[in-house]
Formats: sequence, structure tokens, C-alpha cells
Amino acid sequence: MIRLGALGAGLLFVITLLWGAIQPRDAAVPDPVEELHKHPQEVEWSFNGPGNLGILGTFDRAQLQRGFQVYKEVCSACHSIHRVAFRDLADLGFSAAEVKALAAQYEVPSVNDATGEPATRKATPADKFPLIYPNEIAARAAQNGALPPDLSLMTKAREDGTNYVHSLLLGYTDPPKNWTVGEGLYYNPYFSSLNIKMPPPIAADDQVTYADGTKATRDQMARDVAVFLTWTAEPKLEARKETGVAAVIFLLIMTALGYLSYRRVWADVKKPKAAPAE
Ligand code: HEC
Repeated sequence: MIRLGALGAGLLFVITLLWGAIQPRDAAVPDPVEELHKHPQEVEWSFNGPGNLGILGTFDRAQLQRGFQVYKEVCSACHSIHRVAFRDLADLGFSAAEVKALAAQYEVPSVNDATGEPATRKATPADKFPLIYPNEIAARAAQNGALPPDLSLMTKAREDGTNYVHSLLLGYTDPPKNWTVGEGLYYNPYFSSLNIKMPPPIAADDQVTYADGTKATRDQMARDVAVFLTWTAEPKLEARKETGVAAVIFLLIMTALGYLSYRRVWADVKKPKAAPAE
């Protein structure tokens, strides 16, 4: 009797599973955000190496400098890169004097030597890029309730970060008919909720004039700043790749040596003769 009961319960379980498996998928209510959300477009970046394979590859110094220019002239109105120090900019190919001059364009918090009152002073290469707003409350007050995040680590904080920043910047379009965009929001299918509080920062070609004469198309500016933000998030990317390649070469050599010494050690050991037939 107990056996029969168990069999019945088992059968019921199997039937429920089968029922679930053959149910048509579209029985679930489609999520409009999931349907409209787009994955970032794949771009070939110099730092991903040949074929975008991710091995080797270096930053293009001229591109990093252009990206920094876009950050400085456009994004820095709202976003800080507070984890980057001015002296790190030497990595972009700026000379020590240029870094010093760049730093001096910024003011950082300080203390008045004579009175002890809070004051500001010119930044030095050892300082970090200053915050744009003293805290979140001040940022939201100035930005209509929105909070522009610090961009230092943004390309690491988002999946496929470099492609994401590039696509996000160019991704503003009119919303589809079945989608309503709230007050103070912009439709952008690359943003997770599709409605972003950031106004389109790269609105037209030639928004910046590149020092190296490169034509500043919207795509070019978006690419350059995406690469710059990849560098801020991982300034040692090139060293990491070099170490990786060196480690693989080292392991290959060790494997070859190991195999050769194996051959040598066992060279004199003969295979035992087959036992004589009786
Ligand atoms: C007018 C102010 C303003 C400017 C200029 C601006 N942003 Fe933003 N940005 C914002 C705000 C506000 C948010 C937060 C959006 C939200 O949470 O809906 C944001 C968010 C972002 C995000 C994060 C998106 C996410 O996934 O959370 C990135 C990346 C970004 N901005 C990049 C840039 C870049 C690059 C530039 C320069 C080319 C730039 N922004 C210029 C205001 C600005």
C-alpha cells in the first residue's frame, strides 16, 4: 500500500514536471524593459589587441589624451574622477611640466595658514582630481535630484564597460510609441532602466576641438572618452597583459624542458621483454 502511495506521488511529480516543460514560453508576461534594453555594440579597441582577443594590446596615447580632453571639456561639468591623481596623467604622455600646469587649473580644499579657516589652493601633481560636489545632497540639489556618479571606475562597474560607455553616449533616441518617458528623463535603450537622468552629453559633432587635429565626430568623442575611462579604471592594464604573456611563455619553456628531461631520465630503461612462452 505504501509502495503504491509512493508510486502515485512519484508519478504526480513527473507529470507536474512534464506539464511545466511543455507549457509554451510566451505564457509568461513579456517585460517591456527586457525587450527594449540593448546590449552595447562591440567595438575593436586597441587595448584588446589583434582581433579584439583580449591578449596583448596597448592604449593609444593620442586617443587617451583626446579622451581626457572630452572628459575635461564635457563630462567634468557633472562627473568627478576622484580616484585619479594628476601625476597619473604622465601615463598619457604628458610631460612633468604639462602635468603641473594641468593640476594648477584645479582648486582643491585646504586650510588658510594664517586663520585656520577652510580655504582652497591650487592643486599639485600629487593631488587627486577634486570632487565636483562636496557630497550627494549637494550633487542632487544641483542636478535636479539626479546623482552623476564618479567615473573613475565606471568601466569596471558595468558589464562590458568600455563598449557600454561608448554605446550609452550615442544611444539617445526617440522612445518607441508604447513607452513613456518621465519628466526630466531621457530615453536611452542602453541604460538599465531605459530612462536616464543624464541629458545627452555628446550632442553634436565638433563639440570639442582636438589638439591633434582629429575630426571630432560624435562617434570619435564617445570612443575616446570611453578609452580614457578604461584607463582611469585600469591604468596598469598594459602591464597586466605583458605579465600574462610572459607567464605563458615561461610555462611553455618549462613544459618543454620537463618533457626533455623525462625523455633523458627514462632513456636507458628498456621495455621488459615479453615473458617467454612456456
Ligand atoms: C549635465 C550633467 C552631466 C554631464 C555633462 C555628463 N553626465 Fe553622465 N550622468 C549625469 C547624471 C545625472 C547621471 C545619473 C543618471 C541616472 O542615474 O539616471 C549620469 C550618469 C552617467 C553614467 C552612468 C550610467 C549608469 O550605468 O549608471 C555614465 C557612464 C556617464 N554618466 C558618463 C558620462 C560621460 C562619459 C560624460 C561626458 C561625455 C557625461 N556623463 C557627462 C550627468 C551628466
